[in-house]
Amino acid sequence: MSNETITVINNATGERHDFPLRQGSLGPAAVDISSLYKEAGFFTYDPGFMSTASCNSAITYIDGEEGVLLYRGYPIEQLATKASFLEVAYLLLYGDLPDEKALVDFEKIITRHTMLNENLKDFLDGFHYDAHPMAMLVGVVGSLSAFYHDSLSVNDPRHREISAHRLIAKLPTIAAAAYKHSVGEPIMYPRNDLRYCANFLHMMFATPCEHYKPGLVAEKAMNLLFILHADHEQNASTSTVRLAGSSGANPFACIAAGIASLWGPAHGGANEAVLDMLLEIGDVKEVPRYIEKAKDKDDPFRLMGFGHRVYKNYDPRAKIIREVCHQVLDEIADVNNPLLELAMKLEEIALNDEYFVERKLYPNVDFYSGIIYQALGIPRNMFTVMFAVARTVGWVSHWLEMMSDSNNRIGRPRQIYRGPTQRDYLPISKR
Ligand code: ACO
Repeated sequence: MSNETITVINNATGERHDFPLRQGSLGPAAVDISSLYKEAGFFTYDPGFMSTASCNSAITYIDGEEGVLLYRGYPIEQLATKASFLEVAYLLLYGDLPDEKALVDFEKIITRHTMLNENLKDFLDGFHYDAHPMAMLVGVVGSLSAFYHDSLSVNDPRHREISAHRLIAKLPTIAAAAYKHSVGEPIMYPRNDLRYCANFLHMMFATPCEHYKPGLVAEKAMNLLFILHADHEQNASTSTVRLAGSSGANPFACIAAGIASLWGPAHGGANEAVLDMLLEIGDVKEVPRYIEKAKDKDDPFRLMGFGHRVYKNYDPRAKIIREVCHQVLDEIADVNNPLLELAMKLEEIALNDEYFVERKLYPNVDFYSGIIYQALGIPRNMFTVMFAVARTVGWVSHWLEMMSDSNNRIGRPRQIYRGPTQRDYLPISKR
């Protein structure tokens, strides 16, 4: 541990307070100000956590300036091209890549937990046919805590592990069931002879009267997208899972909270918003007009799929997706996909525009993921659901890490109060 300290000086009183600097294995150091209020009597103010590290974590590392993303030390580019999604899930959960036996055992465990309690189907049936699948996902995942009382002791490591397996295994089944409900088709049971992504495609697109053979290109594309979306350190939804879990809430409730946070268009909802935006733009000729709208401070329009809180360089995931996008569209869908053409034009103009260059606004992972999902036949309102299925692995890994951390305390930020000072209650006749 570094012996460096940072001194905070109160210029009004001349008081000095030293705080230790904590250095991780990579990345900038952090000033440990946990005793600031006790010692100095004031808080720090950092809306949006622009400069705040909220925890110690050994799962994912991002260097936003250089465009680097590592899962447990492994570059995303290597995992994306060489690993399977469940191999990456094992890595994120347990810290190391599995050997052959460990992977086979893990795949077996996850496969064995994919079915849903039959009563959950009744719960799904209660939703209106046009309910957004994300709304169903939040509700159904939260309701899992009502079905698995046998593994809800959050202080028991074995219970925590079983819940983690259940969540990773059941999310695709719930997601596909939400989709089937929205199109009025019967829910398809999982198939244990299929790999994770192939099984998901089967549950989405098979019907009881028609066999569906998941294509290899589609399975590979989904495997890649799931790996790219699996984790991204302390983003809004992961921080939500951690904050919910810090009170000792059960894992199903915590992941439901994470799903709710992911839904927003500034976060996981962006892939759906990108497609909406491309359809609204409609024609390559319209691109310059929309670029001007995005730059106009009086216009709420933003280029969806552009910009990132951490990446001030090309998002490494977007770089990988961009290439795969062309391959997938060539192999699965009609070549000359007009949306891809539109996306490329938008990207080209934005990357050369002073406004975007100055602000380091590059395409993020969601700029291309929606186009691939669309080519795979996944409807737009399911895009964020796909993200949630993949990110469940990251959420669960962070929850497990937090729950086994002896320094874990309930998350409880403070505030700068700007409301009225104390005043007396007046009877209604005197107000
Ligand atoms: N289009 C136009 N201008 C933008 C965009 C955009 N997409 N993103 C940021 N800006 C501008 C802001 O207006 C601001 O300009 P100013 O300095 O003149 O005021 C500047 O760039 C900095 O932007 P902030 O909003 O301060 O950046 P922040 O880190 O808070 O926001 C965010 C990041 C939310 C991702 C933002 O870039 C955005 O809304 N992007 C579009 C939505 C999106 O694609 N979200 C997906 C994120 S990735 C993910 O969750 C997987």
